[in-house]
Amino acid sequence: MAKFEVVNHPLIQHKLTIIRDKDCSTKVFREVTNEIGMLMAYEITRDLPLEDIEIETPIMKTTQKQIAGKKLAIVPILRAGLGMVDGIMDMIPAARVGHIGMYRDPDTLEAIEYFAKFPQDIHERRVFVVDPMLATGVSAITALNQLTTKYNVKEENITFVCLVAAPEGIKALQEAHPNVDIYTAALDEKLNEHGYIIPGLGDAGDRIFGTK
Ligand code: URA
Repeated sequence: MAKFEVVNHPLIQHKLTIIRDKDCSTKVFREVTNEIGMLMAYEITRDLPLEDIEIETPIMKTTQKQIAGKKLAIVPILRAGLGMVDGIMDMIPAARVGHIGMYRDPDTLEAIEYFAKFPQDIHERRVFVVDPMLATGVSAITALNQLTTKYNVKEENITFVCLVAAPEGIKALQEAHPNVDIYTAALDEKLNEHGYIIPGLGDAGDRIFGTK
């Protein structure tokens, strides 16, 4: 089983409380969501390999460290995932960004992909799939199904990153993709009868883009 981590750094917890508040404005919600993305980038990249590099400081030649290994990609699940991308990119600006769009079929409740565009070499990259809310897990699982089957990304090279997770979503995602690491800023209580996370923060897409 891969890693499952609740990133409970005080700054992240504090900022999450700000955006959970129903009176948080769209502007502040968007800014703080990106800030949390930036802070989470620090944690999700903790195990990136390093290699030695020779450089010259103004004083002398020296051997120092630089990031080695696979190139990185960030894949937001549209549309709410977009809300965390800029913050993560601030920390890993060389990462490429792929997009995957999913909607919920109202009859079957299945997640249907309506858009996908990834870097051509995505199968050679370490991939961070981003969606603020892990509720039932259906969108996340469908996105990961696509990445692993159609685009040949190995589960071991995928990390799923969210802000708020429900236990139901964690369980479903771990069952479907046991080798994918999962990082969340909070593990909430459960889903309500409408599939919203409680206490949660409402509809993340609407709150990021001000559509309600
Ligand atoms: N998607 C959201 O945006 N919020 C939830 O609580 C559940 C799914």
